[in-house]
Amino acid sequence: MSAKIISGVEIAKAIRKELKEEVEELKAKHNVVPGLVTILVGEDPASVSYVTAKSKTAHALGIYSEQVDMSADTTEKELLDQIDKFNKDNKIHGILVQLPLPKHIDEGKVLYAIDPDKDVDGFHPVNVGKMVLGERCFLPCTPHGILQMLQRSGVETSGAEVVILGRSNIVGKPMANLMLQKRAAGNATVTLCHTRTKDTDFHTKRADILIAAVGVPNLVKADQVKEGVVIIDVGVNRVGMSESGKAILAGDVDFESVKEKASFITPVPGGVGPMTITMLMKNTVQAAKQATGLL
Ligand code: GUN
Repeated sequence: MSAKIISGVEIAKAIRKELKEEVEELKAKHNVVPGLVTILVGEDPASVSYVTAKSKTAHALGIYSEQVDMSADTTEKELLDQIDKFNKDNKIHGILVQLPLPKHIDEGKVLYAIDPDKDVDGFHPVNVGKMVLGERCFLPCTPHGILQMLQRSGVETSGAEVVILGRSNIVGKPMANLMLQKRAAGNATVTLCHTRTKDTDFHTKRADILIAAVGVPNLVKADQVKEGVVIIDVGVNRVGMSESGKAILAGDVDFESVKEKASFITPVPGGVGPMTITMLMKNTVQAAKQATGLL
């Protein structure tokens, strides 16, 4: 069997089309323009490219966007002052501080400083708490995007054995929580593996759906999965540079071998990546609607 490719590019395109129409309607009917600010501290190449892609996508959808680039030696106070300014700015409905931050800045303090109503990343403890309770909130973008990919590809998650590799706050932990909830693309039996898991292969081999988010290139091989597994590869690992200076990317899953065994698989690039940015746009539109009493 060779797997069906779940194209994040195609699914993101469909969602962006829906969002563009929603943004146009918000403007025409209610004179509301969703606004997003992205704040980048330092010049990490991967972060620069993410933030640039976020601004570009916002612009393409008719979302007002500002990009704040701060030097790597920015103090915590300077960053908190910027956040405070945007918390009070009515044009801005969503605030995103690109992670990771330089080591001298306390990430928790920064994420806590963002108004939960503008926390379009879904990282503020208020939104994390609401997510766990299944209340309306901003869902973290990567897990939210993965739910959309599963749903729109017709993958049955109810009763499925879902195995997640990696316990990050951005992907693994929220993903596990969302998939066990009574919701669309939920109702799964979830196992979360991490660096201290005793026999990871035991778990991956029995997974109906395997979600890899560990940041190790080509870690998961064909002999570690069962026939017919659905593979969601969150890894975006830079493994080299092309002659034209573009980063060569690899996922956490050895795509070439595993695709022969899987029923569905996401590629890298062109899989989860485009979905993350798209769900950020969806959250920004949701923030604008909530702020203006339309939701
Ligand atoms: N760094 C890697 N992924 C993310 C994300 O989803 N949001 C933010 N703010 N930073 C990130």
